[in-house]
Amino acid sequence: MNSVSPSQITSLMVFLKTVPFRYTIVRHKSSSLKKHLQKVKGDPFNDKKRGEFYRSRAAFKLLEIDEKFHLFNKNCHNIVDLGFAPGAWSQVAVERLGDKNFTILGIDINQATPYKGCHYIQGDVTKTSTHTKTKDFFTDEDGLTQPLDLIMSDMMVNCTGHDHYDHIGNMELCNAALILAFNQLRAGGNMVMKAWQGSELKLLEARMKVLFLKQHAFKPHSSRSESSELYFIGLGKRDLQHKVLLSDLFGDLEEVGKLQRSVR
Ligand SMILES: C[S@@+](CC[C@H](N)C(=O)[O-])C[C@H]1O[C@@H](n2cnc3c(N)ncnc32)[C@H](O)[C@@H]1O
Repeated sequence: MNSVSPSQITSLMVFLKTVPFRYTIVRHKSSSLKKHLQKVKGDPFNDKKRGEFYRSRAAFKLLEIDEKFHLFNKNCHNIVDLGFAPGAWSQVAVERLGDKNFTILGIDINQATPYKGCHYIQGDVTKTSTHTKTKDFFTDEDGLTQPLDLIMSDMMVNCTGHDHYDHIGNMELCNAALILAFNQLRAGGNMVMKAWQGSELKLLEARMKVLFLKQHAFKPHSSRSESSELYFIGLGKRDLQHKVLLSDLFGDLEEVGKLQRSVR
């Protein structure tokens, strides 16, 4: 084999410096990314222009819900947005309420940036301390607490991919939202809450029927058909003072059924 002399190496290096350096990055699409791309292709709610305006596509679900149930009506001033991040629901609320007088408090377990004109606290809604902070927020220096007109909950646990566990995790979040509604939503107030299909859904529906004069289960078009999510909308909270205890609401299906008949 011929050996390469030092002078040949030097001239090779000089030559290489004159050649433009080109490289190509090859990204291999993982199968889950491929699946995701197939899923969002042709999804009208993933439209780039509209998606850029709202903080997330969750906005379109609330827009549809409001179109049908008129949550942002003239009596809607004090609003709590549970599971607020990244903030598209608060954004829709601000847009829909326009120049009306309103206060929106977003709550999320994760750190987030409040939407303009809104407030935010970081907290876990399943903790009593978060409910106390919410009440304190709506209480003035004279100790007068403004009741809530609307509770929105789009809370969702981190999906495990196992429908039953996701359903149970989400039921816990729904129950926490119901406790807030029981204690802090005014009589006549409204609620919208994300739920997850599963064995406990009937119980959740029964509890909603105790709390509200009218309740609806609704699947917006903008919610992917293969997703197990749906929304419960409670309209007109009943005046339950002195009639029902919070503990009564968390009985089993038969007990809640009896309770429901007694409050009619
Ligand atoms: C689907 S995202 C909400 C999207 C939001 N509605 C929007 O329009 O941008 C669900 C949110 O629920 C929050 N979350 C989950 N568990 C929670 C808990 N225990 N307390 C408060 N927020 C929670 C998550 O951090 C997440 O930001």
